[in-house]
Amino acid sequence: MKAFTQSWTDTFSSVYSEEPLAKLSWFNASPGLELIKRVIDGTLKPGQRLIDLGSGPGVDAVFLSVQGLDVTGVDLSADAVVRARRWAELAGASADFIQGDVLDVPLPDHSADVVTDSFVFHNMRDEAREPYADEVHRLLKPGGLFLLNSFSDHMVEGTGPRRITSEEILGTFRSDRFECVGLYVYRNVPTRTKPDQLHWFGEFRAR
Ligand SMILES: C[S@@+](CC[C@H](N)C(=O)[O-])C[C@H]1O[C@@H](n2cnc3c(N)ncnc32)[C@H](O)[C@@H]1O
Repeated sequence: MKAFTQSWTDTFSSVYSEEPLAKLSWFNASPGLELIKRVIDGTLKPGQRLIDLGSGPGVDAVFLSVQGLDVTGVDLSADAVVRARRWAELAGASADFIQGDVLDVPLPDHSADVVTDSFVFHNMRDEAREPYADEVHRLLKPGGLFLLNSFSDHMVEGTGPRRITSEEILGTFRSDRFECVGLYVYRNVPTRTKPDQLHWFGEFRAR
């Protein structure tokens, strides 16, 4: 089972070696705003084991590592892993980055207090959603948190790769395995190509 269509997989496999980060449509050099808030309110705290799925250039992972969490970023793109390691080194952060597939993460069962997904789920093929939720659940300790950043159906028409509804999110991270602590739309930092960044933030607790 492939998580993404072949064209998206091809795009991600080359883009990190060919483009400066500032040219990537999803890169704004800032860790996720809602993740920052959870550091401030103490939900995310030093010592927690955190796995960042589809960690890309590693901006969230490095920020959380600097905050004292024990972070591993996982990305399918070897070039993304190289970029993220360089960023961690520059920052003096101990975040670890490994190459891996979000549907078959090479990390042990129930090893994470927190799993994060920033802008990975919304790109995924419909058939991959259910196995992805299984994988997130497998990685989390019982009671562990899954934090989801995703494009939303509240964005301006034409923006996306996918415009995801709350029903699609709640239908994937279902109540038999996850308790939904919160799911809301927030306005994210604009980019040149996407000025109206209305994104979902979801917070789920593994049962
Ligand atoms: C839109 S980027 C988001 C990157 C990062 N989370 C961020 O917020 O900057 C999506 C990331 O998912 C990665 N990716 C795509 N398919 C994947 C897969 N099957 N397994 C792991 N990572 C994947 C891509 O290489 C890319 O880095």
